[in-house]
Amino acid sequence: MTAQTNRPNTIDSFLTMSTQALQAANISTARLDSELLLSSRLGLSREWLLAHGDAEIAESQWNELCQLLYLRSQHCPLASLTGYKEFYGRNFQVNHHVLIPRPESEQIIEQLNLLLQADDSAKTVIDVGTGSGCLAITIKLEHPELTVWATDISQPALSVARNNAKNFGLDPDSDLHLTKSDLLSNLTSQQQFDIIVANLPYVNRHWPWLSPELAYEPDLALYDDSDSDSLGLIKQLIIQSTHHLRPHGHLILEMDQQQVPTIIGFAQQHHFRLISRLLYTITLQHKD
Ligand SMILES: C[S@@+](CC[C@H](N)C(=O)[O-])C[C@H]1O[C@@H](n2cnc3c(N)ncnc32)[C@H](O)[C@@H]1O
Repeated sequence: MTAQTNRPNTIDSFLTMSTQALQAANISTARLDSELLLSSRLGLSREWLLAHGDAEIAESQWNELCQLLYLRSQHCPLASLTGYKEFYGRNFQVNHHVLIPRPESEQIIEQLNLLLQADDSAKTVIDVGTGSGCLAITIKLEHPELTVWATDISQPALSVARNNAKNFGLDPDSDLHLTKSDLLSNLTSQQQFDIIVANLPYVNRHWPWLSPELAYEPDLALYDDSDSDSLGLIKQLIIQSTHHLRPHGHLILEMDQQQVPTIIGFAQQHHFRLISRLLYTITLQHKD
């Protein structure tokens, strides 16, 4: 993957070499990742790159691209190399302190939209474990009338969320109320919400299907070691929610599909009823 001496270093030659290297590393999105890496590093759109395959790449840029390509071939996530990830149509900055937003977490936004379509009386929402802030910020941008809070136990993650909020023209304090807290424990009992959303850690580090890319994301954002079923944090939040939800308030939770029946059963024991279910997300309503 060093600079070639005989042929010019063009966009096409990088894409060919990069795609082959990533395929050899068993990366199924080899061509797409190569285009996105190039687009991000050169600051040019993918469309432009594809239309200008003969354009030459300066040697210094080529060498930098080869370093990034090497890291990607070691399964460093693409977003960690580009520094951003798209979520619900917007680019969020990420670093090694936060989970890279996942497409499946957009289901939380879909569930919230459905709730608000059915009943627009909700005024306050809190996102627990906000990470990059992708959920809280999307909620505030899609529903500016809502008062939105966001918490995380990680101060470095809160800094990322703060920067993302500013990048989208939001005030991290007055628009998002970003707060450091272990779940809801740092809130006063007077702080009540109509809707609580959470994508908390629920991965079991012994699951055999985990991808090598996870090694580059923070353990604190991924794994729940507190319980054998990796649902300790979600269960704790369900219990705490009963003290912070307004009457008949809603809780929207993400988890792995196989964990859904356990959580529905646990929530029912704590006076919640299931309102709706998508693949990775459930919406519960407190009965009191
Ligand atoms: C799976 S990530 C989700 C990040 C973001 N909400 C998203 O959907 O991309 C979980 C987040 O929960 C935070 N977290 C872990 N334990 C927590 C706790 N006890 N209280 C609050 N936040 C916690 C982590 O720091 C991490 O940012």
